[in-house]
Amino acid sequence: MHHEIKSIKKLKFPHGFLWGTATSAYQTEGNNTNSDWWAWENSIKRHNELISKGLNPKDFFSGIACDSYNRYDEDFSLAEHLGHNAIRIGIEWSRIEPREGGFVGKELEHYEKVLQSAKAHGLTTFVTLHHFSNPLWFMKKGGFTREQNVQNFVRFVEIATRRLSENVDFWITINEPEIYSTASYLIGKYPPQEKSLWVAFKVVNNLIKAHNLAANFIRHNIRKPVSMAFHLSDFQPWGFFGDFAASITHYFANEYILKRTINQCDFIGVNYYNHHHVGILGLRKKSHSKHDVTDLGWSIHPEGLERVLVNLKKYHKPIYVTENGLADHRDKKREKFIKEHLYYLHNAIMKGADVRGYLHWSLIDNFEWSDGYGPRFGLIEIDRDDLLRRKVRYSATKFAEICRNNYLEY
Ligand code: BGC
Repeated sequence: MHHEIKSIKKLKFPHGFLWGTATSAYQTEGNNTNSDWWAWENSIKRHNELISKGLNPKDFFSGIACDSYNRYDEDFSLAEHLGHNAIRIGIEWSRIEPREGGFVGKELEHYEKVLQSAKAHGLTTFVTLHHFSNPLWFMKKGGFTREQNVQNFVRFVEIATRRLSENVDFWITINEPEIYSTASYLIGKYPPQEKSLWVAFKVVNNLIKAHNLAANFIRHNIRKPVSMAFHLSDFQPWGFFGDFAASITHYFANEYILKRTINQCDFIGVNYYNHHHVGILGLRKKSHSKHDVTDLGWSIHPEGLERVLVNLKKYHKPIYVTENGLADHRDKKREKFIKEHLYYLHNAIMKGADVRGYLHWSLIDNFEWSDGYGPRFGLIEIDRDDLLRRKVRYSATKFAEICRNNYLEY
């Protein structure tokens, strides 16, 4: 009997490739009491919404999160032991400026220590300035729905970047403007739960303005590379008029913000999670029955990452994957997920995309926004019944081999 012998290839990544994970401040630090998310989680409206769905509000309250505000050194040390040479973290605007114009020196000092610790563990740092959450005072005056409020964000960026840049290698102004505007202002999933196309569109345009002003400041005064973390998805045609539907969707979902901010980006940060088949009747949810899904029901479609990355070649900027990951509480799919995405990322490099790093979402299980603590995205498990003990998952050790080798055996 003949067995087909599949030859294993070593796919080498470019010299100096960055390997690591991404996290955000609000999802990991805990007790961000001056944020709009904290107020929303504690509101009667949210409480009643969860009860009416038969859910336990306790599981949807961020509370102490992963206590990374205090345990950051332990987290960075784990990253170092897993062979990572980079990390993406966030700083929380509502901590640094809990009242309008009242910047808290002690919190800036805290982040300085956090960054020093990341450096001491040999990690190249990507730092996000806005990742979904806002100071409550900022939201009370309309947040990003009002153009005149953009200057509040820019002032925060000026103060934070002047103070912290020494240990920051890459700045990310805003995480996923596409998701923030739609989840908070179009589909009503995230606070303030508005449902208005017009308001969502205004927010998109104000976020574009906010990025351009903030990045212009960083590029000229701080002189560190800057980008947004763009949420880019793969849209494939489906059925009648599919080509037309997919290209329109691709334009509005992927290119609209990118084209208006690219001149103020030194690199392109890519968050890749989704693939859709698009027909004239809209998005087709289940993309391919042959594809596996995550615990959140998202289809796993690694080929799409190659198309997303190759499409960015036209911008002639370095590319970093600033997020890619899955909810998989049993850790059954993560190793394969990572390897397949890296295989297609490597293909994109072979086709000329200048990809220089891969940051997996996420280092540790964390607060998954309106889905609470159920979804487990971490390479490292957080045991919420045992003092938030960190437990390294098997997939993390397999990813560590790739990081250390700078190649993938596939
Ligand atoms: C966000 C993260 C989130 C992840 C998984 C991204 O859209 O930036 O904050 O946890 O997706 O849903």
